[in-house]
Amino acid sequence: MKIAVIQGPNLNMLGIREQNIYGPMTLDQIHDQMKGSAEQNGVELEFFQSNLEGEIVDKIQECLGTVDGIIINPAAYSHTSIAIADAISAVSLPVVEVHISNIYKREEFRQKSITASSSLGVITGFGPFGYHMGLIALMQILNEMKVAKEAQQVTQKES
Ligand code: DQA
Repeated sequence: MKIAVIQGPNLNMLGIREQNIYGPMTLDQIHDQMKGSAEQNGVELEFFQSNLEGEIVDKIQECLGTVDGIIINPAAYSHTSIAIADAISAVSLPVVEVHISNIYKREEFRQKSITASSSLGVITGFGPFGYHMGLIALMQILNEMKVAKEAQQVTQKES
C-alpha cells in the first residue's frame, strides 16, 4: 500500500513560520514521524511539497495509478483553489485533508475550504499530530476498501 503526502505553500517554512499557530516542528520532523507509523503498518509514503498551485495539480494527477490514497494539506490554496479541488475529484482516490491549525477558529477567509468538498474528510486543529490522525484514517479506509473489493470478487466468482 502506498500513500502520497502532498504539502502546499509555505509548509516548507514550518518550524520558522508563526510558531504560535503552527508550533516548532519542521516539515521533515513531521514526515519522519509519519514514516515511523507507516513502516509499522507496512505502508510506503511518498512526500511532496510545492509552493505552486500547478505543480500540486500535476502531482495529484500523477497519483492516479501510482498510489492508493493521498494525505494533503493544500495550505492557503484550500481557500482559493478550484483547480486543486477539481484535480482531487478527477483522480477519484481517497483523500484526507489535514490542517495543522483549526481553520474554523481563525480569520473568516480561512473558514471555508474549497478543496475539502472533494476530499473524504478533514482533520483540522490538532497540530502536526493531525498528519498522524490522517494517516490512521486513510489506512483504515484503504483496508476497508480492500476487504470490500475482495468480498465482491468472491461473490462474482460464485455467481
Ligand atoms: C493551514 C491553514 C491555512 O489557512 C494556511 O494558509 C496554511 C496552513 C494549516 O495547516 O493550518 O498555510 O493549512
